[in-house]
Amino acid sequence: MTVLESLQLSTDFLEKKGIESSRLNAELLLSEILRCKRLDLYLKFDQPLKENEVNIYREWIARRGKFEPLQYIIGNVEFYCLPFKVTPDVLIPRPETEILVEEVIKFCKDKTGLKILDIGTGSGNIPIALAKNMNDAELTAVDISEKALSIARENAVSNGVEEKIQFISSDVKKFMSNYKFDIIVSNPPYVSNEEYPNLQNEILNYEPMVAVTDSNDGFDFYRTIAGRAKILLKSDGKIFLEVGKDQSKYVADILEKNDFINIYFVKDYQQIDRVVVGELK
Ligand SMILES: C[S@@+](CC[C@H](N)C(=O)[O-])C[C@H]1O[C@@H](n2cnc3c(N)ncnc32)[C@H](O)[C@@H]1O
Repeated sequence: MTVLESLQLSTDFLEKKGIESSRLNAELLLSEILRCKRLDLYLKFDQPLKENEVNIYREWIARRGKFEPLQYIIGNVEFYCLPFKVTPDVLIPRPETEILVEEVIKFCKDKTGLKILDIGTGSGNIPIALAKNMNDAELTAVDISEKALSIARENAVSNGVEEKIQFISSDVKKFMSNYKFDIIVSNPPYVSNEEYPNLQNEILNYEPMVAVTDSNDGFDFYRTIAGRAKILLKSDGKIFLEVGKDQSKYVADILEKNDFINIYFVKDYQQIDRVVVGELK
């Protein structure tokens, strides 16, 4: 079978299963197997696939047909132009979270020696992207999931920043530190238990539930983090929080009730408030 024939068959299969952008999915999976750029497939249309390539491709397409996320199948994702290993033990980093990282980097420009805490680090995407883009920040990354932390540590090593980040296994409700931080950043689980069953199959069946929902009203982590910030953050310290659609104003209220001032929002590419920033009085 040639590249073109396998692409056509796989696209039809994925389309019948109801996978969105089926051709793109078929191309991305095949380009990973052939270790080439997706667009380079177009130069290889007549190339026959080797038996082992066909076997892997068949298996991957079947998995994708069952709604397994493409990133878990190929085992990696790009975030902030950096490579991250991902498994079903960690949330797949989303492009929106790059806006959160960008905002922290913008604030930290021209500042040195900052101590930064990332709450709910998952794959480690946030502290690793920060460490790669800041000279001398001291980063601490906390997560309740040991399995996620082990992937995060691997990602820190593969990106060459393991010396700059301390990974700590802890529940945010109990996390204590010997010193106070200049910045807290977090992309916490913010889907409510009401919304959770309506999420896409890819998320419901494959991404860790503990990373997605607070099993409450969607604001549990914001209340906890804002409360803990009084102990963990220096006065004048900054907080940067990713929020879900329509959550920004409620999160701003929570921050205000917890002595934060100078609160502002940053929008994502769809003009949705995606990041809430505040300063502790
Ligand atoms: C939405 S994911 C964010 C992962 C990653 N920071 C990102 O942006 O892709 C939330 C993370 O919070 C962690 N988490 C859930 N409950 C927690 C808790 N009580 N204390 C600390 N971390 C928690 C989950 O394990 C998950 O890795």
